[in-house]
Amino acid sequence: MNIVANWSYPTAVKLGRGRIKELADACKTLGLKKPLLVTDRGLASMAITAHALDVLADAGLGRAIFSEVDPNPNEKNLEAGVKAYKEGGHDGVVAFGGGSGLDLGKLIAFMAGQTRPVWDFEDIGDWWTRADASKIAPIIAVPTTAGTGSEVGRAGVLTNSETHVKKIIFHPKMLPGVVICDPELTMGMPKAITAGTGMDAFAHCLEAYSSPFYHPMSGGIALEGMRLVKEFLPRAYRDGADLEARTNMMSAAAMGAVAFQKGLGAIHSLSHPIGAVYNTHHGMTNAVVMPPVLRFNRPAIEEKIARAAAYLGIPGGFDGFYDYVLSLRSELGVPENLTAMGIKPDRIDELTAMAIEDPSCGGNPVPMTLENTKALFLDCF
Ligand SMILES: NC(=O)c1ccc[n+]([C@@H]2O[C@H](COP(=O)([O-])OP(=O)(O)OC[C@H]3O[C@@H](n4cnc5c(N)ncnc54)[C@H](O)[C@@H]3O)[C@@H](O)[C@H]2O)c1
Ligand SMILES: [Fe+2]
Repeated sequence: MNIVANWSYPTAVKLGRGRIKELADACKTLGLKKPLLVTDRGLASMAITAHALDVLADAGLGRAIFSEVDPNPNEKNLEAGVKAYKEGGHDGVVAFGGGSGLDLGKLIAFMAGQTRPVWDFEDIGDWWTRADASKIAPIIAVPTTAGTGSEVGRAGVLTNSETHVKKIIFHPKMLPGVVICDPELTMGMPKAITAGTGMDAFAHCLEAYSSPFYHPMSGGIALEGMRLVKEFLPRAYRDGADLEARTNMMSAAAMGAVAFQKGLGAIHSLSHPIGAVYNTHHGMTNAVVMPPVLRFNRPAIEEKIARAAAYLGIPGGFDGFYDYVLSLRSELGVPENLTAMGIKPDRIDELTAMAIEDPSCGGNPVPMTLENTKALFLDCF
């Protein structure tokens, strides 16, 4: 089934096979004449990236690219990107890639016109109002993975290369003006990335749904997002060329990101420090810590999860849902625990302190303390 759709929620989204050819039109919509395509090092040499640059060049928009972007990008990548943006005289960004390329592209567009250091715009209270909003460049987002949902998000995750802490940088104008979700771009993802990014989308939906904050719209989106992952992630994993599965996973990823305005929780607050310290894949790390976090949160979410299980067609309430998560993980080749991921518990106190400081921590249904979070970490090994 070839799904084609145009949405205006939460921003203009053009979803469907082959729609990367509309990239030049998207530039025109946002008034870009000299865009800088930002992506990561791995994607820079792939055919999908060359094709996107061809679409720009054919329309007289040049083929400028910046790709000094690491997985879990840091402030050094950002500084180099802002420099390339200014030196090239660009007027907007095409953020192209998985979460790493998308986030760094969004952050370059945001920071190109600011005078304060990026850490002044961390997602705390109203810090975003410190920014000069009139200087934020237009952004087009083109996801090549289906997981982070950064393409429809208003934040970028940036790792501090000195402290190894992941910070969320937020501004409402970091929401891309146009998003092109072309499932063909995701077909070349290696199996492990398909699995990890898909589990990131699932984690966003699960944590948003479980968070105690009042946001019923997000709760509904999270539920349907989980259903799409359940139906389509195993298919996309088994057969990377399954267009219907790839398309629906792009929708699920976007839904996860819209849903987590409601809040995230312990999965992300554990996964952020692990990713920042050991440079593991974000979504895969989420999948590894998911079962211990479900056990940890059980007293607060048992009924809610039973309702979700019913919607997802999983018998057995909370226990059924828990078993489903275990079987999904094994179907996708997720490592059993952090030990199997190659991590040793020798820095657990440091990781615990970082998890407690992580902004996702506040959305967890069971309040997180140093003591119970250390025990939770131990449970993940
Ligand atoms: N902004 C947000 O709201 C948000 C949410 C969750 C995660 N994140 C961040 O996103 C990052 C993770 O993003 P990700 O999981 O998409 O991974 P990624 O962007 O780091 O990409 C992982 C790897 O897959 C490769 N890749 C990407 N697309 C490909 C394709 N189509 N074919 C072949 N290879 C491809 C990349 O080159 C890279 O090597 C982390 O830094 C995480 O903190 C951001
Ligand atoms: Fe995530």
